[in-house]
Amino acid sequence: MENKPKRGSFTGQLGFVLAAAGSAVGVGNLWRFPYLAAKDGGGLFIIIYLILVVTFGFTLLTSDITIGRKTGKSAIGAYTEMNPKWKFLGVLTFFVPVIIMTYYAVIGGWIAKYMVAYLTGEGGAAAKDGYFTSFISDPVQSSVYAVIFMVVTAVIIYRGVEKGIESCSRFMMPILLVLIIFVAVYSLFIHHGDRNGLQGFMVYITPDVKGLTVKKFMAVLLDAMSQLFFSLSVSMGIMITYGSYVKKDVDLNKSISQIEIFDTGVALLAGMAIIPAIYVFSGLSGMNAGPGLMFISLPKVFASMGVFGNVVGAAFFIMAVFATLTSCISVLEAITANCMEVFHTDRHKTTLVLGIIYTIASVIISLGYSVFYCKIPLPNGTVGQLLDLMDYVSNSFMMPFISFLSTILIGWIVRPQWIIGEVESSGVRFHRKQLYIIMVKFVCPVIMIMLFLQSTGLLAKL
Ligand code: PHE
Repeated sequence: MENKPKRGSFTGQLGFVLAAAGSAVGVGNLWRFPYLAAKDGGGLFIIIYLILVVTFGFTLLTSDITIGRKTGKSAIGAYTEMNPKWKFLGVLTFFVPVIIMTYYAVIGGWIAKYMVAYLTGEGGAAAKDGYFTSFISDPVQSSVYAVIFMVVTAVIIYRGVEKGIESCSRFMMPILLVLIIFVAVYSLFIHHGDRNGLQGFMVYITPDVKGLTVKKFMAVLLDAMSQLFFSLSVSMGIMITYGSYVKKDVDLNKSISQIEIFDTGVALLAGMAIIPAIYVFSGLSGMNAGPGLMFISLPKVFASMGVFGNVVGAAFFIMAVFATLTSCISVLEAITANCMEVFHTDRHKTTLVLGIIYTIASVIISLGYSVFYCKIPLPNGTVGQLLDLMDYVSNSFMMPFISFLSTILIGWIVRPQWIIGEVESSGVRFHRKQLYIIMVKFVCPVIMIMLFLQSTGLLAKL
């Protein structure tokens, strides 16, 4: 055995599933899934998404987690062990969380600000026009919230895999589930004028295929596919790192299904919470994605709910903080674990250095809305700030490319049996084995390249 620093591990299957679900459930579930569902034909999007989860999602998640457990390493070390010539893929993968970490705590800070507003009874003020803009363009306030979020994340990572990541996920994920169910059910009972929540729910789940063309269908498919990636936290090395902390007797098959169910369940519930509410109070045509939905439209909805609005708003933003924090932890952990392996440093020192670097980075990114304000044209035709640039590079550009390369490596170089053997090593049968082989060898590489071309704007040019 070579001399390596001591690695932590999750105590068992439940701890692992909750931590991985913690990474998977994030703003993608809360502000992107409902938006896409409303835009892409309600039930139509849901059906396509569900099919993709059990095919693509399953393949990519199985690959990442199994690579981690089999090698016991994070992305750089793991890909090098699979094939030394493919070390570059590990390095590329490592850079995804490195980039995401620069802005994730900034978004976390925004959500924390709203949580504080609702908990201190200031929800009404948060619904006023200009509240969000004046907050993010206030250099001091926005930076302070980003720094607090970053420091809390670093402290959890400092405490290690079991005492930090696992215990925090064990506490937050069940509460998150209860809160989102509460808001989702509440949403069904609201009414305003001649509209009610139940009608909104029907709009959400009924497949709308009016005027559906092949082109439109392809667009929905690609939306669902890129959502899936982001949502499951695959192809960024995070699930490789978490997989490396899973004990050998844990049933990977079952764990992977549970993570898929948790992540998709929360996305569906978020749609159920948000779509009927927006439908009832303002109609779905004005529904937007991202910060606009969470920080502008939803506070207005909560304000129209009367006295109860503050309670629902508080429940919603506590849940959102938990979702973002557990994702943020997983991003920093992936970076920390890779650094520990490459530089042979211990966890405490590594976290301290990374914590300082990313606190500075978070401040710079959050100042992108005030002191460093600039307009950056992106290759997909949109214009954004620093945060959007980082988001674009990591999600639209690098992730599909990494998935493409990693499925080629597994499907054609180390061969699917390398993965299957590890899944079955704990004495279980690999369900969906044939599906996995076909997906990883043929379907994934083709679709990933298409996704890459589409998000870089190259598909439109072809
Ligand atoms: N999977 C998270 C979500 O759905 C997003 C995320 C991105 C998490 C990057 C970790 C890293 O929102």
